[in-house]
Amino acid sequence: MRLCTTVQEMRQERAKLGTVGFVPTMGFLHEGHLSLVRRAREENEAVVVSLFVNPIQFGSPDDLANYPRAVERDIALLQKEGLACVFTPDAAEFYPAGFATQVDVGGVAQELEGPSRPGHFAGVATVLTKFFNIVQPQRAYFGQKDAQQCAVVQRFVQDLNIPVEITTLPTWREADGLAGSSRNSRLTEEERSRAPVLHQALCRARDLAQGGERRRMVLEDAIRDVLVKAGLTEIDYVTVVNPETFQAEETVEETALALLAVKLGAVRLIDNMPLF
Ligand code: PAJ
Repeated sequence: MRLCTTVQEMRQERAKLGTVGFVPTMGFLHEGHLSLVRRAREENEAVVVSLFVNPIQFGSPDDLANYPRAVERDIALLQKEGLACVFTPDAAEFYPAGFATQVDVGGVAQELEGPSRPGHFAGVATVLTKFFNIVQPQRAYFGQKDAQQCAVVQRFVQDLNIPVEITTLPTWREADGLAGSSRNSRLTEEERSRAPVLHQALCRARDLAQGGERRRMVLEDAIRDVLVKAGLTEIDYVTVVNPETFQAEETVEETALALLAVKLGAVRLIDNMPLF
């Protein structure tokens, strides 16, 4: 497994590879990330994983500083996965003085996480455009855990004619239902014990929907109710949307997706679940 830290090294390495499956990450890897790597391995001659805590997708310097990092441990984990290459670019090379371009996605990027985290999706789309240009993968793999991110990526890749096939894979969960996230490591023991409520709340909405409930407001109230009863009151959003548009409709369809963003202590967690 080669380690590339500069754009030039990565380009040279890429030129030696056949079909490439690419898994972009911010590191502090868990089983969710590894599930993407394993699928990429099955479908491509070579796999490239990036580890890069992308500064331009964070709204506050505190959030960026507190994001967990463990590059050595991540590289050791990836060594067992049969990769061609790990790319750990340097922020100073990626964003030198004078850097002035942004990929600003409209439509789906303007909903939910869009207004909650101004600049976030532009940061994601900009860094991924750079990665796609440097790594030139045939396929790139993303997790349903960040459902809106997946929709945003599909959008700009199509709009900008970037020749990469985007695959979305299911959310990997801990045994108690909590969706795997690097941010989980920042929960206190007490917060960690309450965190599975996010998943339970989404399951409640799914059960209601599958029992025939189609009124969006009723489904959203049910999710909120489970959260609030468990003492999770710092709710950023709870919603049921059409996954094509990420907009809420009065009556939910069979494709509906329930999503939530909740703060647990200092940590903001997101999760989602298709209702059918
Ligand atoms: P990060 O949060 O590290 O996630 C990297 C990839 O792993 C994303 O596609 C994410 O959806 C996926 N992932 C995270 N948790 C998962 C889980 N529990 N199950 C399945 N997949 C999961 O998302 C980012 O990094 C960044 O925004 C990035 C795309 C790398 C751009 O900087």
